[in-house]
Amino acid sequence: MLSIARELDLRFCAETRQDAAVIDDIAAEAFGPGRFTRAAERVRERAPHDPALSLVAILGAEVVGSVRQTRVSIGGTDVVMLGPLAVRPRFKKRGIGRTLLAMAAETARIAGERAIFLVGDRAYYMPLGYRPLPVGSVRMPGPVDEARILGLELVAGAWEGVAGTVEPR
Ligand SMILES: CC(C)(COP(=O)(O)OP(=O)(O)OC[C@H]1O[C@@H](n2cnc3c(N)ncnc32)[C@H](O)[C@@H]1OP(=O)(O)O)[C@@H](O)C(=O)NCCC(=O)NCCS
Repeated sequence: MLSIARELDLRFCAETRQDAAVIDDIAAEAFGPGRFTRAAERVRERAPHDPALSLVAILGAEVVGSVRQTRVSIGGTDVVMLGPLAVRPRFKKRGIGRTLLAMAAETARIAGERAIFLVGDRAYYMPLGYRPLPVGSVRMPGPVDEARILGLELVAGAWEGVAGTVEPR
């Protein structure tokens, strides 16, 4: 009975300043110390994420998942970089990650954004609509496995011809 009540109490909300510490903790648990060496982190050091495009999953009073998005540009085209996405281990496989991704895309679309990219596992993201971007088209400020750079169009054709280095806006 209690677990059913907790499921019903799952909410998805815009990130607030009060969520910062728990989001750091969720990321530390999910990615470990290596998270600071990732190429996407180099981008985020120069272009902080936008809380208005970032979401948390809250179960009861507890933040159990988070997705962040950062407004960047690639070769002069404005796009959004998604990440990190993480869910507390004990709340995985309930659709929270998938819902955070869908809501992140919708939030970005409503904000007038045209395209999202991320660095992640094809097996997770491709069934959710992400597609590999042409190798060499997205240059990150650090080493990255190019096969893991995936894009989502929010507007048809938004990724066509986009190429260059990921820069802060
Ligand atoms: C990836 C992550 C956010 C998914 O969250 P979640 O709430 O469990 O996601 P969902 O419930 O929407 O989807 C779960 C499904 O995705 C699968 N999945 C999770 N990670 C996967 C991966 N890397 N590759 C392929 N499938 C994956 C699960 O096995 C599960 O499959 P099932 O539904 O057939 O059982 C979560 O596993 C996590 O925090 N992982 C550690 C951090 C991470 O890797 N983040 C992504 C960065 S690229």
